[in-house]
Amino acid sequence: ATNHFTFDPGFMSTAACESKITYIDGDKGILLHRGYPIEQLAQHSDYLEVCYLLLNGELPSAREKAQFVDIIKNHTMVHEQLKSFFNGFRRDAHPMAVMCGVVGALSAFYHDSLDITKPRHREVSAMRLIAKMPTIAAMAYKYSLGEPMMYPRNNLSYAENFLHMMFGSPCEPDKPINPVLARAIDRIFILHADHEQNASTSTVRLAGSSGANPFACIAAGIAALWGPAHGGANEAVLNMLEEIGSVEHIERFIAKAKDPNDPFRLMGFGHRVYKSFDPRAQVMKRTCDAVLTELGIDDPQLELAVRLEEIALADPYFKERNLYPNVDFYSGIILKAIGIPTSMFTVIFALARTVGWISHWQEMLSAPYKIGRPRQLYTGSALRDFVPLERRN
Ligand code: SDX
Repeated sequence: ATNHFTFDPGFMSTAACESKITYIDGDKGILLHRGYPIEQLAQHSDYLEVCYLLLNGELPSAREKAQFVDIIKNHTMVHEQLKSFFNGFRRDAHPMAVMCGVVGALSAFYHDSLDITKPRHREVSAMRLIAKMPTIAAMAYKYSLGEPMMYPRNNLSYAENFLHMMFGSPCEPDKPINPVLARAIDRIFILHADHEQNASTSTVRLAGSSGANPFACIAAGIAALWGPAHGGANEAVLNMLEEIGSVEHIERFIAKAKDPNDPFRLMGFGHRVYKSFDPRAQVMKRTCDAVLTELGIDDPQLELAVRLEEIALADPYFKERNLYPNVDFYSGIILKAIGIPTSMFTVIFALARTVGWISHWQEMLSAPYKIGRPRQLYTGSALRDFVPLERRN
């Protein structure tokens, strides 16, 4: 490690689950992907380049990047029969329920031809998933609206293609994609790409350790991400801001968050690892300011979120517990400005995190591994004999 910090690799080798992909220092608010700070990647890179880095360990050369982008473009379409899986859901089904089902169903289309012991098969599965997630996510959104699903346009960038499939119509000529929105969504993808061994990534690793196919493993990750304590928090933040309504009501909600008898938590605040600022939240906040300014949007919820952050950070309860805004606190405001409905926020998180999940899956399978088997601390009854029914009172 060089520059402004050093870290003890020895610590890494004693970690419960070794990995070379992402390093987090929760006390210093440091997040590195293969050694590169998230701030630099968000500023100078794009999502597919970060995908290449997470999967392969190095930033691509121009030729490698062009090749990678081409391969992804060749896998953006889904099997036509996959569409029928959507029809099993009610129109008002939560898109995350649809994503769990449809992504898991990819197993039925690719599982038989897949031998996960072969590196090439693992690599193709990774590409297929990264390429198809935007298509499936946009299909889930169109299905919820009762609108025709859009095919990918491979002349567009990854982010532009997603926005095209989300907001395009087969009855209208393709509208040019606003570059501000495309850059914003691409940056949001980068900021959500990977985050070490969090709940959903650990779920993917555990599922993968049994030899389950990668599509089923990613579906398990999607399910774990859905919870409001994890990826579901971005949707919960917007619902919370809606409920708070205006700056005058902030104190009442801060009091609720501090009340040990009230289950209410300040959504988008706190983190299992970060006990200082989540570096992603800081980039997200800057992106939020820039996007709303460039789009000329004056969103009162941004002002409410900024004021809520100020009040919470000045409050001893939050300071004593090292509770800071996390990646989910500002992301929803940008997604709303882009035109994405709240119900799709966690789907965007799952779309972006797929590369992190599949990189960890790849890393685990590319070296000898054993099936995961977390042990427990038994606190139940001691040994005792069966009591026949007639003798029970
Ligand atoms: C993500 O792990 C990852 O890397 C996840 C993630 C990723 O990229 O994969 O970063 C994405 O999941 C971000 C987190 C999104 N979730 C939320 O924003 C939901 C709101 N946050 C909380 O639910 C909570 O902070 C957690 C779940 C994130 C962490 O919970 P912990 O582990 O219980 O937090 P903690 O141990 O640091 O809590 C210490 C104290 C406790 O109070 P005391 O028992 O000491 O009195 O702080 C309290 C907690 O009750 N606390 C909060 C709070 N978060 C913690 N009190 C009010 N509001 C909060 N948000």
